[in-house]
Amino acid sequence: MVGADRRAIPVEELTLEDAAAELEALAREIAEHDRLYYRESAPRISDAEYDALRRRNEEIEARFPELVREDSPSFRVGAAPAEGFRKVVHARPMLSLQNAFEEDDVREFVRRVRRFLGLDEAEPVELVAEPKIDGLSVTLRYEEGRLVLGATRGDGTEGEDVTANLRTLRDVPRKLKGDAPAVVEVRGEVYMRHDEFRAMNEQREKEGLPLYANPRNSASGSLRQLDPSVTARRKLRFFAYSWGELSANVAETHWEFLERLKAWGFHVNPIARLCRDVEEAIAFYRTISEQRAELEYDIDGVVYKVNRLDWQERLGMVSRAPRWAIAHKFPAEQVETVLKDIQIQVGRTGALTPVAILEPVTVGGVVVSRATLHNEDEIARKDVRIGDRVVIQRAGDVIPQVVSVVEKARPADASPFVFPDHCPACGSLATRTINPATGQEDVVRRCTGGLICPAQAIERLRHFVSRQAFDIEGLGRKHIAAFWQDGLIRGPGDIFRLHERKADLIVREGWGEQSAAKLLEAIERRRRIPLDRFIYALGIRQVGESTARLLARHYGSLEAFVEAVEAAGDPESEAWRELVAIDQIGPSVASDLTAFFAEPHNREVVEDLRRELEAVEPLPATKESALSGKTLVFTGTMESMTRGEAKARAESLGAKVAGSVSRKTDYVIVGADAGSKAAKARELGVTVLSEQEWLDLARG
Ligand code: IVH
Repeated sequence: MVGADRRAIPVEELTLEDAAAELEALAREIAEHDRLYYRESAPRISDAEYDALRRRNEEIEARFPELVREDSPSFRVGAAPAEGFRKVVHARPMLSLQNAFEEDDVREFVRRVRRFLGLDEAEPVELVAEPKIDGLSVTLRYEEGRLVLGATRGDGTEGEDVTANLRTLRDVPRKLKGDAPAVVEVRGEVYMRHDEFRAMNEQREKEGLPLYANPRNSASGSLRQLDPSVTARRKLRFFAYSWGELSANVAETHWEFLERLKAWGFHVNPIARLCRDVEEAIAFYRTISEQRAELEYDIDGVVYKVNRLDWQERLGMVSRAPRWAIAHKFPAEQVETVLKDIQIQVGRTGALTPVAILEPVTVGGVVVSRATLHNEDEIARKDVRIGDRVVIQRAGDVIPQVVSVVEKARPADASPFVFPDHCPACGSLATRTINPATGQEDVVRRCTGGLICPAQAIERLRHFVSRQAFDIEGLGRKHIAAFWQDGLIRGPGDIFRLHERKADLIVREGWGEQSAAKLLEAIERRRRIPLDRFIYALGIRQVGESTARLLARHYGSLEAFVEAVEAAGDPESEAWRELVAIDQIGPSVASDLTAFFAEPHNREVVEDLRRELEAVEPLPATKESALSGKTLVFTGTMESMTRGEAKARAESLGAKVAGSVSRKTDYVIVGADAGSKAAKARELGVTVLSEQEWLDLARG
């Protein structure tokens, strides 16, 4: 989007989505102009034009304070950090944590650990309980005891090199004390204390600068400054709690590891506690919940970690979170406000979702003016009416929710909300289907307009170009809606034929030769796309990123995937059996897949895309091993590890684990008392391995 188009819409008329998209674009554009000006001394626009961009950014932020971005230009003077940091791939991925909200979730976590390791009841499982600091995680790499690299977490795989800034933190040692292995990566949380946060915001207010919403945003903004002297003035702090790469073992337990961190010169949260069992850990949580308000920094829960490192090693991780740790979160902050309206949004699968429009209110440090109401039944159950005072909450990054209604404050004329039975976008009937298996109504009401519903079509396209899918830069919601309306893009394949309509594109309001060329380039770059992204982009129900990855890894090519899923439409087929045998894909996901491909229009979309682009095999999840790409089946009882552990080990080595033996199975591993699967393997001529042979292979 260029300036003319943007200025065409007065700030007062922007929708929330438009405003968010525009702020994102402005952050990027202003950063680019800063870079050109400060770094290359080659500005491309006049000072007046530049000022206009910044003013527009400020005006939108003033109207939508909840949309102020961490990388907002308002938080920055001078050159552009967004573009300015080198990307670094982490030596070991930076993991996230599974969450627990109830005490029983924590007890269940420890039971899972026990089951996985095959421990008996008498064996104690010690846990280290640490406050969960609400800041941002970073990794610090030391070679021969010297700090050589400091990086943000980023997406867990790749972060930004902020070494110069991290060096300015007094809690970050430049040199490790005592003896340390040649390579040590220390991980922990950068945060800002309350008093320093308040002082900083007071200063900003005096200077007429926008305020940071909370200490977390402020810590993140302060660390991502291109000028380290700005970071230095912000008084950031650091608690160490974990490690990445280590060239030698330094401890046998996590508790001992924390001691080593202290000896090297790091701050370790002094409240952390070694607990003998889960009940002691939960008692610690209760104590901390009470002390929370008096702490000098924000915490949003307690992290429990299995103390023994050999157990941590065996437990490994599952979908980017360790099996040996869990975050026990505090309940979300709740506040009251007035519900001004209920709007109905139509999603890509036709689902009608009610959204609460609220009197803006601050909760958890940010101003909230919209919240989700989930679905029709939720509105009825809570009897939410327009005009009501409602309690809302916001937990972490999740969308704010309406929790309950303050009934005694209900206006006399408030009437029960009538959920529409027609789609607000296309007028088609909206129905709730009956699940034939349970005889129950689906909770979601869906538009039956299918292909004729513009809202669904636009949402599908939006999903298709979204960051996790095709990630086409410069093709935002507004453009998609406008292009759809004018027939430039009606289906995903049209995106790749947009170059044929370049003449129509450049004459559009707000478009020109340059911006059109940029968009078309961004599209061209996606003619080769990893298969998992392709599958995810199709927007098949229940097929999220991780399921798409499983499918891509299992089938390896688009041709094989399409052929298999089409064939699986027959529930008697071998293809169906293979599909449901993929670990973590049950009959429900499998039916959604086959239903998608049973629809001729969907098949056409996929065929059309196949003519336009090439889906390439995704990168393997792990490095090559003797087991990469192999399909294994475990049967019988093993002595050295539980079934769960064996499966996890196999998957971490790039193998697939199936539930039943077929001709596609590479190895069947038989433990004691193996039954029919071992016999079937022999019958099909599949290689059978003993437990010991499997262990040798798994050790690589
Ligand atoms: S351990 C492999 N310990 O929480 C272990 N994380 O929700 C990874 N966090 O990305 C994290 N305090 O930014 C750990 N004492 C603590 C923590 C902590 C805060 C953050 C960290 C992580 C996020 C996961």
